Amino acid sequence: MDVVVRAVDLARRFKMGNAFVDALRGVDLSIERGEFVALVGPSGSGKSTVLNLIGGLDRPTGGEVWIDGVELGATDERTLTRHRREHVGFVFQTFNLLPRLTAVENVALPLMFSGVPRRERLDRARTLLENVGLGQRLTHRPGQLSGGEQQRVAIARALVGHPALLLADEPTGNLDTTTGAEIMALLKNLNQERQLTVLVVTHDPEVASFADRIVTLRDGRVQT
Ligand SMILES: Nc1ncnc2c1ncn2[C@@H]1O[C@H](COP(=O)(O)OP(=O)(O)OP(=O)(O)O)[C@@H](O)[C@H]1O
Ligand SMILES: [Mg+2]
Repeated sequence: MDVVVRAVDLARRFKMGNAFVDALRGVDLSIERGEFVALVGPSGSGKSTVLNLIGGLDRPTGGEVWIDGVELGATDERTLTRHRREHVGFVFQTFNLLPRLTAVENVALPLMFSGVPRRERLDRARTLLENVGLGQRLTHRPGQLSGGEQQRVAIARALVGHPALLLADEPTGNLDTTTGAEIMALLKNLNQERQLTVLVVTHDPEVASFADRIVTLRDGRVQT
């Protein structure tokens, strides 16, 4: 069994003045390579917190996160940043594209930080945009694209560094039902064709139905 993600007794306590919020209270979760998992649960149940910890955007206050056999808690800030860049792609509800850059420039941007030469960056970005069906929108800026198109650009950007793991937090949250289903079909396709491991946070059962497996969070714990 090839486990890409392993969260062990994961806890996250946020300090709020003199009080605490226990967002996660001992979450155990394993995801195998090539799996497509949906993380569901009510608002405030800890979904985004789990995703941020697995992605190395935040650190747990208890427990461990292992990605590809590396325990993130044991790494310093620089190693964590490099790990994120090399192993994880992120997709967010609000797309988070840079408004002044074209689609191809947005997708190529992460490769700048990895020291890939400009020509190769743009070539790889162009190929990926073609892969997600945006070959005709290469020089459009985000404001000139529909919501679904912007999310495709964001997905292409997430994949440009060849991550093993794609993390998506409510990727269809700002899209209508039809466009949302198209985005999920695209993610499913990438999952199957590239053996990409996908973890999608959603509160929409229709979105979750694209997954191989559904994990439900409630009050900071996995519901069994
Ligand atoms: N930075 C923070 N400081 C304090 N409390 C936080 C912080 N981030 C999250 N929380 C709290 O932790 C709990 C879990 O939050 P989280 O964002 O993971 O929920 P969620 O399941 O993603 O909800 P939603 O579906 O609304 O996005 C919530 O009660 C939230 O208020
Ligand atoms: Mg959330």
